[in-house]
Amino acid sequence: MLPDAVPFSRPPTPGPHPLRIGWYGLGAMGYFMARNIATSKRLHPASASPILVYNRTLEKAEKLVSEVGSPAAVVASSPAQLVTDCDVIFTNLANDAAVQSVYNDFNKTLSVR
Ligand SMILES: NC(=O)c1ccc[n+]([C@@H]2O[C@H](COP(=O)([O-])OP(=O)(O)OC[C@H]3O[C@@H](n4cnc5c(N)ncnc54)[C@H](OP(=O)(O)O)[C@@H]3O)[C@@H](O)[C@H]2O)c1
Repeated sequence: MLPDAVPFSRPPTPGPHPLRIGWYGLGAMGYFMARNIATSKRLHPASASPILVYNRTLEKAEKLVSEVGSPAAVVASSPAQLVTDCDVIFTNLANDAAVQSVYNDFNKTLSVR
């Protein structure tokens, strides 16, 4: 060991944290599914982090948060934030092309990290 090396310098193993849920796609189906999770005490207890929501058209995400309140849901600043902050991400998108495009973006964020 080098004389000035500090033993036990690795960061501690992170402790358990509440599951962080993300949701991408607040269309006709996704909006109500995400809202149900945000407001369900069983699926998403008050002690959990707010569900992080994202939609291509931002107004739909803002509408959801204004409906359920910020302790239950928060608008993600970008799809990249969903990938970096969430343990589980649900997507509810219009078609295969949208799914492919969104998951390619997720993949790009993960490969940079
Ligand atoms: N509606 C039903 O009764 C029903 C029943 C069974 C199954 N489904 C299936 O559920 C899925 C969603 O249906 P829906 O009725 O909720 O559709 P929708 O109302 O048209 O919503 C589609 C969602 O996909 C997003 N989107 C579309 N293209 C995108 C892109 N290129 N990049 C990022 N986001 C994109 C839309 O964002 P914007 O808001 O920005 O447009 C919206 O959030 C579909 O696969 C559908 O087949 C629907």
